[in-house]
Amino acid sequence: MNYARRPGIDSEALARLATRERETFASTHAESARLAKDSAQHWLNGVPMHWMRDWSTPHPLFVRKARGVELEDVDGNTYIDFCFGDTGAMFGHSPPAIARALAETGAMGITCMLPSERVARVGEKLAKLFGLQFWQMTQTATDANRAALRWARAITGRQRMLVFDGCYHGTVEETLVRALPDSDKGGTRARAGLIGMNHDVSVTTDAVPFNDIAAVERVLSRSRTAAVIAEPVMTNIGMVLPAEGFLQQLRELTRRMHVLLIIDETHTLSSARGGYSRAQDLDPDIWVCGKAIAGGMPCAVFGFTAEVEAGMRRVQEDRAGGHSGMGTTLSANALALACLEASLDELMTPANYQLMHDCAAYLSEGLGRVFAAESLSWHVARVGARLEFGFGRPPRNGVESERAAWPELEHAIHLYLLNRGVLLTPFHNMMLCSPVTTTAHADKLLEHLHACLREVASSS
Ligand SMILES: Cc1ncc(COP(=O)(O)O)c(C=O)c1O
Repeated sequence: MNYARRPGIDSEALARLATRERETFASTHAESARLAKDSAQHWLNGVPMHWMRDWSTPHPLFVRKARGVELEDVDGNTYIDFCFGDTGAMFGHSPPAIARALAETGAMGITCMLPSERVARVGEKLAKLFGLQFWQMTQTATDANRAALRWARAITGRQRMLVFDGCYHGTVEETLVRALPDSDKGGTRARAGLIGMNHDVSVTTDAVPFNDIAAVERVLSRSRTAAVIAEPVMTNIGMVLPAEGFLQQLRELTRRMHVLLIIDETHTLSSARGGYSRAQDLDPDIWVCGKAIAGGMPCAVFGFTAEVEAGMRRVQEDRAGGHSGMGTTLSANALALACLEASLDELMTPANYQLMHDCAAYLSEGLGRVFAAESLSWHVARVGARLEFGFGRPPRNGVESERAAWPELEHAIHLYLLNRGVLLTPFHNMMLCSPVTTTAHADKLLEHLHACLREVASSS
């Protein structure tokens, strides 16, 4: 563990706190410990999916149930959840509308590889809410992004993609990249830690720093780029907000250079009803969203303009038949579609967004007060219902954000909060406010976070 000195934090106090919190966790999670041991007999690393080991806990936390804002573990401990399955449950756990859709449609045929009667209706609702005329469904945001990139290549006849350094768009090979160090010319290398990947990202992808429009222009002017894929706010390397006018310049530039703009709103659906793009008139060519779009049911969508749809039809007509290489069997199944409709009708409502945003604004102000009280020059970034605090000044790009991160401090804070019934996401310091998260929940987070920081903040 790296408890090295940093301004504002007493590294010895931090190391002591981390040790004590691990012991506390062990003494209050005996049943989770037992299940962790048993699960290791049949699951790689003791869990069915490796993210489940990314938490600050010494062993996985096993969940009994999650409803609304609350999660209960197998030892009977309860938690106020600000992680919400890393956004999948952003509208609360098991919202009644989704539970109802699951029960009703689950009894009527789950997957038939045929469109169900609600398809036309849901298409109209998607178009109305997000402002794009045409749609396709996949099971995950990863699949949606992968399909969007494929279509972009086929339509434009160009091969390369431009991404922003520090991005994450799911496990799509082309996007698992970092920019070459100190480069704003678009060179890429594969991200560290990838397993078994033989995709040569230097052939398919350019990466440049976020908020650097000159670097984007340098790459696009080579006329080899099919599409730019971006989150409007970077949310996977801490949170990096767009500089004033950057996204508008990006839109203008991509349009002028005949490059498709793919906006991935899997996380920024938190921004506003209809997403960030709608609220800011971004007007993307392709718009992608997954995770919370159907209330947490595996489901994602990508929407596109009439021009892109015409391009897709042209590509299909020119094709000599055979398999497109896109799609998965269970995509757009009846159950996912029913949940998507329930989510459009009953979760993504103006009233719910108002509740989420009011609560997130309250929490953001409270965090600012806590940091000021402990003389910590940390920042809070917010995009609607989604917040993130970071150590130091707001970053302008992925490298700045990464430099400011301190995983050991984050883990210690997360574990301290978890031991007191508050869950933050295991990745950086992300918090979400759902429609059922209240200011009382936010107060609990603030109270415990303040106590934690009081213990580790240095007086010098
Ligand atoms: C912006 C963004 N896009 C896409 C994805 C991929 O989502 P999934 O893992 O559900 O495919 C993620 C996952 O974190 C994401 O943050």
